[in-house]
Amino acid sequence: MQANLEHVVDKVDSPSYSESEPELGDTPSAQEPEFEPMGILQEKDATPEKRPGDVAGKIMALAGLGVFTIYSWALVLSNDPVSMKWFALHPTLQSLGVLLFGLGILVLQPTTMNQPKAKARGFAFHQSLILFCGVPALVIGTLAIIRQKVDHESEHFTTWHGTLGIIAVSWLVLQIVLGGGSVWNKGRLFGSNPKRIYKYHRASGYLLFPLFLFVIYLGGGWSKWTSNVGSKPLVIIAYVVGPLAALVGVLSRARCVILSLHGPFA
Ligand code: HEM
Repeated sequence: MQANLEHVVDKVDSPSYSESEPELGDTPSAQEPEFEPMGILQEKDATPEKRPGDVAGKIMALAGLGVFTIYSWALVLSNDPVSMKWFALHPTLQSLGVLLFGLGILVLQPTTMNQPKAKARGFAFHQSLILFCGVPALVIGTLAIIRQKVDHESEHFTTWHGTLGIIAVSWLVLQIVLGGGSVWNKGRLFGSNPKRIYKYHRASGYLLFPLFLFVIYLGGGWSKWTSNVGSKPLVIIAYVVGPLAALVGVLSRARCVILSLHGPFA
């Protein structure tokens, strides 16, 4: 799938604008000339936009995402996964899906207008990680727990974890429509100003990702299953410290100016 993002990443009018751009890019070949007339550095001269704390934020996010994913897999694999039936797919694929979402966000943070190739690479990664890996993992993991409950004739969505989980998964569908619709096929789905819609995709993503982390915290930190099979200190590290670290790490790298719905990119 080849996304065309010219309409999303075209340069802002404001000459005073100097911070990072929307962290996306078009195909490398298509984008570069577009930036030159604006007097912006060519990529070979460009230095990546860095802010103190970006590297620490990335490490923190990766550690947080890694810790709950690894622990979820370890808990399932060390507790006779076959006997768990469909449930074995739930903590494993859900944590993996959220890890991939986190990676998909991290690869877009922060690349700059003066790095069209880096932006394009980041965007291609973003799509692959999220759409082709994270979303299928999350959908299968969700269907697995629903199927498990159907098999046991249990009631659905009886906990905050289950309720917020299904809300987050439903929101994810909207998130994909906003993101895909504003970039695929030149964003024609949203008419003349897909860039504006793209801003909603980005802002919504920064709300949805914390919701997923909160759902992990509830599912891992408060479910009977983890308290039965896990060790309390490790459960706390994996499902309280892990999601919190991922949240702080990812948010610390976000550029607020880009998130503004009414700013120069609106
Ligand atoms: C963001 C990731 C996750 C999402 C979206 C999610 C979603 C859901 C949903 C929708 C249900 C209810 C299904 C139904 O009632 O039919 C559920 C149940 C459950 N989930 Fe998750 N889940 C996630 C991560 C996890 C993790 C990491 C664990 C464990 C470490 C976990 C453990 C459980 C357990 C034990 C249940 C059954 C009890 C209950 O309904 O709360 N979940 N999950």
